[in-house]
Amino acid sequence: MNITVIGRGNIGGGLADLWGRAGHQVTRLGRDGGDAGAADAVLLAVPGTAVESALSSVVGLEGKAVLDATNLYGGAQPPAGFASNAEYVKAMTGGPTAKAFSANFASLFGQLADARVRPSNLWAGDDQAEGLVKQLSLDAGYEAVRLGDLGMAGTQEGLAGVLFSIAQSGLGQFVYRMATPEQL
Ligand SMILES: NC(=O)c1ccc[n+]([C@@H]2O[C@H](COP(=O)([O-])OP(=O)(O)OC[C@H]3O[C@@H](n4cnc5c(N)ncnc54)[C@H](OP(=O)(O)O)[C@@H]3O)[C@@H](O)[C@H]2O)c1
Repeated sequence: MNITVIGRGNIGGGLADLWGRAGHQVTRLGRDGGDAGAADAVLLAVPGTAVESALSSVVGLEGKAVLDATNLYGGAQPPAGFASNAEYVKAMTGGPTAKAFSANFASLFGQLADARVRPSNLWAGDDQAEGLVKQLSLDAGYEAVRLGDLGMAGTQEGLAGVLFSIAQSGLGQFVYRMATPEQL
């Protein structure tokens, strides 16, 4: 698969490395932008307050499937008129859209391959994005767990504060697994 990552920092760069190792062709764009026209899938991994600016510097996004990993915390808001960054992305691109890879710590990407069971990767979004989220979660070392449709993206964007609080309350940076008792 051809994947374009917009944002090549901890999350964008980290997932680009994992997906590259899984056999995908990954193009990395930074704040200078670029062309996503050849992409089968796009990952958005810029600061949560930079989404409008980031999308405006990338061409070729029309109709693309986008996985939006951004978080909003500390009172930061999505673009005016939208309940979440992911819904803004959907309005700009018109393609299948999911909030995904936002509720995990990038610092632990290097340890996923050694996990006894796959950690969960929460996502919320369009039915048409489900296959892509499941595949790219597996290719990164996660199992996708759906939180809801795109209307739940704002809830997921706000989970960063919950994760930070758990980490700072003694556990440190962590992975998690949501599973039925039969899957344990
Ligand atoms: N770090 C984590 O563990 C983690 C986990 C889940 C979700 N997230 C979320 O993922 C997003 C990225 O986090 P990160 O830790 O990967 O950040 P980061 O390491 O600081 O990387 C940010 C990337 O965004 C680009 N960027 C910054 N401002 C931009 C702008 N105005 N327009 C376009 N691109 C811009 C930077 O471009 P240059 O390369 O050109 O500098 C850089 O590549 C955030 O929304 C964060 O909340 C982070």
